Amino acid sequence: MDRIGIGIIGARFAADLHAHALSRLRGSTCEILAVCSRTKESAEIFAKKFNIPHVYTDHRALLDRKDIQLVTLPVVTSLHHVLAIDAADAGKHLVVEKPLTGCFVDADAMSRQAMFAEAMQNADAVVEACRRNRVTVGYAENFVYAPPVAKLRRLMDASGGTLLDLRAEESHSGSHAAYSRRWSTAGGGSMLRMGSHPIGAVIHLKHYEGLKKSGKPIRVKSVLADVAQLSKHPAVQAAPHKYLVTAWEDVEDWSAAILTFEDGAKATVFSTDVSLGGVKNLVTAYLDNAVVQVNINPNTSLQVYAPDGKIWGDEYLTEKVETKGGWQFPSPDEDWMRGYPQEMEDFVDAVRERREPLSGLLLAHETVEVIYAGYVSAQEGRRVELVR
Ligand SMILES: NC(=O)c1ccc[n+]([C@@H]2O[C@H](COP(=O)([O-])OP(=O)(O)OC[C@H]3O[C@@H](n4cnc5c(N)ncnc54)[C@H](OP(=O)(O)O)[C@@H]3O)[C@@H](O)[C@H]2O)c1
Repeated sequence: MDRIGIGIIGARFAADLHAHALSRLRGSTCEILAVCSRTKESAEIFAKKFNIPHVYTDHRALLDRKDIQLVTLPVVTSLHHVLAIDAADAGKHLVVEKPLTGCFVDADAMSRQAMFAEAMQNADAVVEACRRNRVTVGYAENFVYAPPVAKLRRLMDASGGTLLDLRAEESHSGSHAAYSRRWSTAGGGSMLRMGSHPIGAVIHLKHYEGLKKSGKPIRVKSVLADVAQLSKHPAVQAAPHKYLVTAWEDVEDWSAAILTFEDGAKATVFSTDVSLGGVKNLVTAYLDNAVVQVNINPNTSLQVYAPDGKIWGDEYLTEKVETKGGWQFPSPDEDWMRGYPQEMEDFVDAVRERREPLSGLLLAHETVEVIYAGYVSAQEGRRVELVR
């Protein structure tokens, strides 16, 4: 296949990440031909910013275009499975955002066990539609493509070591996105919305180890988790809070999950919206013969200091720090360090070369399974065994 025509459905934060990443590839291997968003104005602003020729408000009209082979879906989470199935049925290859899907009702509308069943039905329906239509699916888990994680894979190969204990985290002071406040649009709180990344990363690493050593991914066997709404703490509620997002309605803003893998290895993953000091994207891998510390954010490739944050003017330093003053750790190229251009390059090449991308449907599906098992565990106060 020559140049790939791309359509983007969604036109805000994550769409920006997709378009910036694709812009780095544009010209030779792919071209963004159309954008679709619910609100015409936001699609038009986005189209102008990225020089995209066609704008839609109905995703089916975008999917009807014959010159589009690959569709990316940076839309609200509750629409991921619906749009993924429509796109697959239209014969389009796909990039799905994290999390692949979930259960979208009010948090107290049903038990977590019933939610788990519904989330898996949605996830199974996407897998089935993609298989039926033989389309390639890239799961936009950027941790998989972040350069420090790529180096970790090479170090695993070199050392021949076994991952015994993984510790991972994505945390910050709260999301900007309105959909994230409610279970009915987000499908869960910090464990799903942010935890997808570190949970996806540890699942990926054990899959990778298994595939390398025995041709079979090592999968998650059971999950033990807890969740909380720490922004409801009296200390945070006492006054309009200056630093933490407090607008959460029925979703958790703190979570911890312990995953046990088929070979007995463990992973401990934290995901919170109550953590000051900028975004933390971290993985520590304790192998039986080595230790690797992955610092996607913050990292020390650049350390800058100013006694007053105003000294840096409008120059971006790093995401979600409360101040630009004092010592700061900006990445010289944050998108690259997080793996965004690398994931899009792999997805476009996978479509052109008719192969599986490094991050695909198995990882997307297992991440939803593990997180919803975590919700069951937190509600019922027990370890949840995964039955496959
Ligand atoms: N991989 C990552 O690092 C990363 C980072 C952030 C987010 N994400 C994921 O990306 C997704 C979007 O998050 P976001 O932060 O970009 O949210 P956002 O800023 O709220 O944007 C959501 C987008 O969905 C569009 N939309 C809503 N309903 C639609 C419909 N019926 N048809 C077409 N478009 C519709 C909105 O359109 P209008 O604006 O026109 O109303 C908007 O463009 C989420 O699933 C999130 O988990 C991933």
